[in-house]
Amino acid sequence: MTERAKVAVLISGRGSNMAALVYAAKAVDCPYEIILVASNDPEAPGLKLAEAEGIETFVHPHKGLKRSEHDQILHEAVTNVGAEYIALAGYMRILSDDFVSKWQDRMLNIHPSLLPKYKGLDTYQRALDADDTHAGCSVHLVTPELDDGPVLAQTAVTIMPDDTADTLADRVLIAEHQLYPAALTKYVSREADPNWILDQVRDRALALEETHERPSFGTPGWRVGSEKTGKYFAYFSRRHFGETGTSVFVKTSGLDEQSALLDADPDLYFAPKFYGKSGWIAIRLDTGRTDWGHVADSLKKSWRMVAPKRLTKMMDIADDF
Ligand code: GRF
Repeated sequence: MTERAKVAVLISGRGSNMAALVYAAKAVDCPYEIILVASNDPEAPGLKLAEAEGIETFVHPHKGLKRSEHDQILHEAVTNVGAEYIALAGYMRILSDDFVSKWQDRMLNIHPSLLPKYKGLDTYQRALDADDTHAGCSVHLVTPELDDGPVLAQTAVTIMPDDTADTLADRVLIAEHQLYPAALTKYVSREADPNWILDQVRDRALALEETHERPSFGTPGWRVGSEKTGKYFAYFSRRHFGETGTSVFVKTSGLDEQSALLDADPDLYFAPKFYGKSGWIAIRLDTGRTDWGHVADSLKKSWRMVAPKRLTKMMDIADDF
């Protein structure tokens, strides 16, 4: 099996969702492992369970510390163990924007409502008061706004006539324990899905000015300029052009830059057989460790090399300053 994604779980209390994540990770084919359980509360019962399961724990009370200071300590602890993802599981502190942005797209949370309904606390009573037919739980990516990030997965839980907030909470919790490991599994595996990868490239290519998609030799390509005279600045290759794996081809300034990149990072770049002689370079997208910011920059550079002057003029002027 390829290496598992390394996940740190942050808790403040009982830690039953953390336990669900830990036990799901014992399956041989689980694509993630829990490498750290961290808490702001030394008394959090979940910590004992994590220790008993042989998982490293980290505790740092937040008392007397500014939010940013506490978050920085947490960030260092999580980074030191090599975590690639954070799963919040009943972590009862609001995290600073700075911390959240450091973990953008790498931090998940579970919330006991069908988001966007009932952000914050008292979700069960609010669902009952509203006479909802269903309550439920959501796993979402964490963004600076509380309980607001993109929803990855949800489970609806039917509300029964004699439900109280407590009975409903008990049932939603069962659903949470099923949902969180499944959603985390799917999320950390997303980079193995060529369709997901294609969507990532497409979003970034089409975000550039005056671009459109046009297939080339049976695979998506992106052009800048008009439909008629546009020029290709990127090709998506999923076992296309005689290559294995999944990659995107972008233009470099020429063979010198191409060979410099190949020397600098031979695991990331290769010279595509079909286009290599003209200075195009392939960036591997199936390493499971893609830096999408770097892909976006490479697309932009390539775009700039073939875009009509009227689009690049302002950038050229800015560069001269
Ligand atoms: C869960 O209800 C979860 O949805 C919410 O906090 C609670 C944590 O419970 N975010 P536990 O500590 O995982 O048992």
